[in-house]
Amino acid sequence: MITVIGSANMDLVVGTENFPNQGETVLGNVFDTVPGGKGANQAIAAARLGGDVHMVCCVGNDLFGTSITDNLQKNAIDCTGVAQVEGASGIANILLSEGDNRIIVVPGANSLLLPSHIDEVEEQIKKSKLVILQLEIPIPTVVYALAKCQAIGVPVLLNPAPARGFELDMMPSITYLTPNETECEQIFGMDMVEALEKYPNRLIITLGSEGARYFDGERHVIVDGFKTTVVDTTGAGDTFNGALAQAIVLGMDLEKAVRFANAAASLSVEKFGAQGGMPTFKEVQERLEEQS
Ligand code: ATP
Ligand code: RIB
Repeated sequence: MITVIGSANMDLVVGTENFPNQGETVLGNVFDTVPGGKGANQAIAAARLGGDVHMVCCVGNDLFGTSITDNLQKNAIDCTGVAQVEGASGIANILLSEGDNRIIVVPGANSLLLPSHIDEVEEQIKKSKLVILQLEIPIPTVVYALAKCQAIGVPVLLNPAPARGFELDMMPSITYLTPNETECEQIFGMDMVEALEKYPNRLIITLGSEGARYFDGERHVIVDGFKTTVVDTTGAGDTFNGALAQAIVLGMDLEKAVRFANAAASLSVEKFGAQGGMPTFKEVQERLEEQS
C-alpha cells in the first residue's frame, strides 16, 4: 500500500497560441476544468498502474471539492484520509502553449492540511510500504509527516516540487528525493554531479525528455527518456513519481524502476491534462517493449 500526503487541486486550463506579454490580451483556443494537484496526480498515477493507494489531503466544501474527491474514488483511491474543510478548494491556473506551461497555484484548502490530519492516518502510514510527499502543502505538515514516517520506519519518496520550503536537514528522513534539474539547483546550490554523489541511490533527478539520472555509489546511471509526441507536459513529473513509487513497491531495482517511470511519464505527455494521459501497467509494458 502507498500513502500519498499532498495537494489536490482543480486545474483551470487555458490553451493559447502565444503566452500574453505583460499588459497584453491574446485569444485562447481551449478552456477546460480538470482535476490536478501534485499529490492527487501522483496518487492517480500509482493507482492507474495497479497500486493500492490511500490519499491524505484537504478539499474545500465547494463544487470543486466534491469533484476532486469523486475523481479520486473513480480511480480506486481510498479517500478515508481526505478531509473536507470550510472554504475553497485549491486551484491551479494553467496556461498552455506549444507543449509548454505556466502555472499559478492558489492553495485554498491545501493550506489547511495540518499535523493533526497526519495523526489521524497513523495506522494507515504504519501499513504502508511507501509514503509519497510533495511541497504543495504547508511545510510544517511535511516536516511532521517526515518525522512520523521516520519514527515508524516507513520509507518516503519526496518530490520537492515546488522547491520552496525544502531544507537540507530533511534529507535524513527521506529515502528517495526526486527534483527536476531546476529544483535540484535550487535545493543543493551545487553542481548536479556533486549533489548526486552525496546521495547515492537516493537522489533521482528528472531531465525532461532526456529521462532521469542517479548515482549508484560507483557510476552515474543515466536512464534515457522515451521518444514521444508531446501534447501537454503538465503532470509528467507527477506521473514519473507515482510510477517510480509503484515500481519500487513492486520490488523493481532502482534502474528498472526509473526506466518504468520514464516510460509511464512519456505516455502521460501524449494527452491533455495532468491526469489525462496517465497510463495503465499494460500500456507501460507495451511502451517498454516497443522501445527496448
Ligand atoms: P512537469 O513539471 O512538466 O510535470 P517536471 O519538471 O517535474 O515535469 P521533467 O524532468 O520535465 O519533470 O519530466 C519528468 C519526467 O517526464 C522525465 O524524467 C521523463 O521521464 C518524462 N518526460 C518529460 N518530458 C518528456 C518528453 N518531452 N518526452 C518524453 N518524456 C518526457
Ligand atoms: O504538477 C502539475 C500540477 O501542478 C497541476 O496539476 C497543478 O494542479 C499544480 O499543482
